[in-house]
Amino acid sequence: MAHTQPPKIFEPLQVGGMTLSHRIIMSPLTRIRCPNSLPDALVAEYYAQRTTPGGLIIGEGTHPSIMAGNFLNVPGMFTLEHVQAWKLVTDAVHAKGGFIVCQLWHVGRFAVAVQLGGREPLSSSATNIGLSNRFTPKGRVPTEKSKEMTPSEIQTTIDEHVHAAKCALEAGFDAVEITMGNGYLCDQFLNSGVNLRADKYGGSIENRARFPLELLDAVIAAIQPSKTAVRFSPWGTVLMPLDSDPISTFSYVLSEVEKRGLAYVCLTQPRTDLFLPEETKWENLHHASDIGAIKAIKDEITLKPFFKILRTTPAFATGGYDDKNCFEEVESGELNAVTFGRWFISNPDLVDRIRMGKSLTPWKQESFYADGAWGYTDYPSADIEVDA
Ligand SMILES: Cc1cc2nc3c(=O)[nH]c(=O)nc-3n(C[C@H](O)[C@H](O)[C@H](O)COP(=O)(O)O)c2cc1C
Repeated sequence: MAHTQPPKIFEPLQVGGMTLSHRIIMSPLTRIRCPNSLPDALVAEYYAQRTTPGGLIIGEGTHPSIMAGNFLNVPGMFTLEHVQAWKLVTDAVHAKGGFIVCQLWHVGRFAVAVQLGGREPLSSSATNIGLSNRFTPKGRVPTEKSKEMTPSEIQTTIDEHVHAAKCALEAGFDAVEITMGNGYLCDQFLNSGVNLRADKYGGSIENRARFPLELLDAVIAAIQPSKTAVRFSPWGTVLMPLDSDPISTFSYVLSEVEKRGLAYVCLTQPRTDLFLPEETKWENLHHASDIGAIKAIKDEITLKPFFKILRTTPAFATGGYDDKNCFEEVESGELNAVTFGRWFISNPDLVDRIRMGKSLTPWKQESFYADGAWGYTDYPSADIEVDA
């Protein structure tokens, strides 16, 4: 049903230097469609299809270096070739009046040596996720034990992110998001179960947050806070155990982030775990609360306390939003904007569909990580669909 009065989700929002015309944002979505880590005309077409005037797209996870993962057909952002290739995409989005952010993605211990030129994957500590089937050009391989990053590797990783952030702006991106959620490198420092270090980067919350905040500050110094953003997953259980005290850990981190005047912060909803059904994720979180494995009671398992900390930083949320449940938190002011992942895959014109109350096309999960146009650029827009 079409809305009679425009809901707040269709009101403008200032995000750093970008004046958005609405608050339906495309989530970062890895689609492994970048041959040799270079986006091409097909990738540009995919993003252009999802662009709206004044709309914001957060681009797919992009490696700032080889050691960040070097995943097959995942794009990079550290060579001249990467910069030139990405210009195809940023130009296509800007030509339609949209904005696009580059998400820098270092996977840490999720990488495997065979893709790192034989080098051990880096992490806060020497741990193993324990996956048996990482996909590589040389077939499926198990994850191995990561290497505890030395102070010099920590500095190199920060420098790589700074270089990649500068490259992203050179390539025409409007801002840079650093992924600090979903169990990837920065999360591997924040998380009490994975970070076992005894130096100034481990132990207390302040120490576990040191590397992510140093990295953030270095990027801010290079490209300005108004062009810098972050993603966190305070209730995340993807690729790692839940932090023992998520409320304290992320309250501290977000209060530090709030001081820095970033473009935005995006937080993952506790219900979200792409490997588990929503109910199972909730059951697991409640069980952890019941047995005292986390310092939080069931009612506290929300993003509310974190959004309250972000008084001046635009706050986005991701995970499980659809055309029905996306309005309320924006309307109440709890959130500033909602990001959509899977619905944006299958609905290039998602914003118009939500605006007009048109039904959404279901996604084909088998096409998420595949080749070519199938399940990528071949989803129809509502205006060319024959209504049943
Ligand atoms: C195919 C696929 C690829 C994804 N790739 C990324 C990524 O590159 N970076 C990231 O931070 N999140 C990634 N995510 C998570 C999404 O950004 C989003 O948080 C998640 O899909 C939940 O939102 P949804 O319920 O609207 O799909 C991915 C999710 C899917 C389904």
